[in-house]
Parts: sequence; C-alpha cells; structure tokens
Amino acid sequence: MVNVVGLCGSLRQGAASEKALLLALAAAERRGARVEYLDFKRMQLPFCDGSDEYPEYPDVNILRQKVAAADALILATPEYHGSYSGVLKNALDLMGFDELSGKVVGLVSVLGGGQNANALNDLRIVARWVHAWVVPEQVAIGQAWKQFDSVGRLSDPKLQERLDRLAVAVVEAAERLRPVAAITS
Ligand SMILES: Cc1cc2nc3c(=O)[nH]c(=O)nc-3n(C[C@H](O)[C@H](O)[C@H](O)COP(=O)(O)O)c2cc1C
Repeated sequence: MVNVVGLCGSLRQGAASEKALLLALAAAERRGARVEYLDFKRMQLPFCDGSDEYPEYPDVNILRQKVAAADALILATPEYHGSYSGVLKNALDLMGFDELSGKVVGLVSVLGGGQNANALNDLRIVARWVHAWVVPEQVAIGQAWKQFDSVGRLSDPKLQERLDRLAVAVVEAAERLRPVAAITS
C-alpha cells in the first residue's frame, strides 16, 4: 500500500483548495492508498530562513518526517498573483532532497478567475528542481467560489472525474516507482 500525503497552500477557513485536496485524497484512498492530510492551520511552521534545524518549531520535523515517509504527495494551492501560494512555497522550502527527491506528485490549483495552469506550471518547475516526479494529470478549478456545495462536494461531475483521475495516476505512479525508490535510496 502506498502512502500519500496532502499539503494545502491556503490557510483560509473553508478554503476551496483544501476542499479539492480532501476530495483528491479520498479518491486516492478509494484506489487503495493510505492517505494523510497535514493541515498547516494546525501546525506551527516558521518562515524558512535557510537553517537546517528549527528547534523552536518541532512541527518542522513532523512535516519533514511525514513527507520523507510518503511515497507520493498531492499539493493543492490557490492561485495568488498568477502563481502558487507563499504558504506552500515556504513549506516546500523547509524541506529538501531528503524529503522530496523521488516523490510522485499530483497538482491541484483553485482560482477566483477563469481556469488556467499558471500555479500548476510553476509548481512543476519547483518539483523538477527537487527531483520529484509530477504526473501529467493535473486539475485547475476556476471560479472556485461557486464550484463546491456546503459539504465540500464539487457540483461539476467532470471536475470530480478529473480529480479522481489525478488521484489514480498518483497512486499508480507511486506503485510503479516504489521498487525503484527502494533500490536508489
Ligand atoms: C493574494 C491573493 C492573490 C490572488 N490572485 C489571484 C490570481 O492571480 N488569479 C485568480 O484567478 N485569483 C486570484 N486570487 C483569488 C483566489 O485564487 C481565490 O479566492 C481562491 O479561491 C483562494 O483559494 P482558497 O479558497 O483555497 O483559499 C487571489 C487571492 C488572493 C488572496
């Protein structure tokens, strides 16, 4: 069974990116993965200042350990000013090759305007830099404020299908890469 960890780039209560992430994680779980959402709203993470250790912030080690132990990540982010959020970048900056290299990654973005791939494309560059494997499937949810019902379901079944396909792609890629990761680690 592969382990999939979800990280969300919004700290907003009721964030659409969190709703999308939870739907993607649920789809990964249905496909047979063990899933965990690391909720940054419940963690105390400092700004990355380039240090190796953050002794006053034990949650940095929890983040690093959970991500290092994962086979795959699903990253969900709001689009902020044409890219992904600083919250997500800071969390990624608190980690490095030890945690991120070799991870399979699935990407989801939500945005207030029309659907585009700006944040997703920028995240692909970052993932490449840390030697992670981003699956080709990706989901951008435009006009996110009107896409979810009161219990966090997507009203457009096609968007839900895309999230399901993304989650399946992440789990299947992690299953295929796991033996390779075991040899190279
Ligand atoms: C600082 C900031 C910048 C934003 N920039 C964009 C943007 O470039 N394009 C866009 O479509 N929406 C933009 N938005 C709107 C958000 O993407 C939208 O409200 C989204 O739902 C927020 O994500 P969340 O619901 O997960 O918190 C911006 C919002 C904020 C707060």
